[in-house]
Amino acid sequence: MINRRKFIEKVAAAGALSLIPNIISARNVTALQQSETNNIPVIISTWNHGIEANEAALNVLKQGGSIVDAVEQGVWVPESDPENMSVGLGGFPDRDGHVTLDASIMGPDGNAGSVCFLEHIVHPISVARLVMDSTPHVMLSGEGALQFALVNGFEMQNLLTPEAKKWWKEELNKSKYNPKPNWENEPNEHHDTIGLLAVDSNGDIAGACTTSGLGFKMRGRVGDSPIIGAGLFVDNDVGAATATGLGEMVMKTLGSFLVVEFMRNGKTPQQAVEEAIKRIINKVPDHKKYQVGFIAVNKQGQTGAFSILPGFNYALCQNGQNILIDSNSYYPQQR
Ligand code: GLY
Repeated sequence: MINRRKFIEKVAAAGALSLIPNIISARNVTALQQSETNNIPVIISTWNHGIEANEAALNVLKQGGSIVDAVEQGVWVPESDPENMSVGLGGFPDRDGHVTLDASIMGPDGNAGSVCFLEHIVHPISVARLVMDSTPHVMLSGEGALQFALVNGFEMQNLLTPEAKKWWKEELNKSKYNPKPNWENEPNEHHDTIGLLAVDSNGDIAGACTTSGLGFKMRGRVGDSPIIGAGLFVDNDVGAATATGLGEMVMKTLGSFLVVEFMRNGKTPQQAVEEAIKRIINKVPDHKKYQVGFIAVNKQGQTGAFSILPGFNYALCQNGQNILIDSNSYYPQQR
């Protein structure tokens, strides 16, 4: 995750000071949302890179683009940012030094596309979209996904930036490989997927999720982000959810699908994400070492966010504001 200071410097350098978010607490936001009647359109996305992604998605909607165009082009922003070490170009490599990407997309028609273990392509989300739009399949992986991308005009690029290579070399020197690095001291630092959900003014819903996954992962490891129902789920009758954090824990509980099902059964988005986090806590004994965060939105534009550990934040673009919000968490901030 780019840190907050770097983020503000970057936005300021771009001459977009008005985009610098107010950081406000989740409790205040809930009160704000409940007092509003016109909640759509709404765009919500994970982490501070979500601010710029939301802005890009909103511009697509303003220009008359589709809701699927909006979520795809929203996440292009972190995918092509070499300073963002958790998504696309410049992402953390695996333990063999390769940047391998996972992404998924879903539209209001229930259609879905995804790619996993994809190398050399800056915008895996657009390959996922092409899988959705132009093939009879949902997911392509590895060599096959790359071949599909190249045949369809995507260009190969070296995604390993000098900074990411330096990080990888430092990791190599540190210790033996541990497929579940201990995150107790830095639960939000090893990867920060972007998941972005949007509801347009007609109430149509779409979502996109893209990541370079767990840094220093075993070669071939795929996380939750490209797994429909785990890292992302959209049901246009109900709402949508997406996840960030340790994918293994999200996959074991099919987290995003679970959140949407809770909403289908009458829970608000906030209640639904809290229940899904509790499910992980009840099912995974060593959950306290790892971070998972969910965000959700329903068809009415109400939103929710919750994580296991403190430190998760998300960007909410609604009612003319685009703000960064600290999520509530199951375990409180340690004092
Ligand atoms: N949530 C992203 C991953 O585990 O790869």
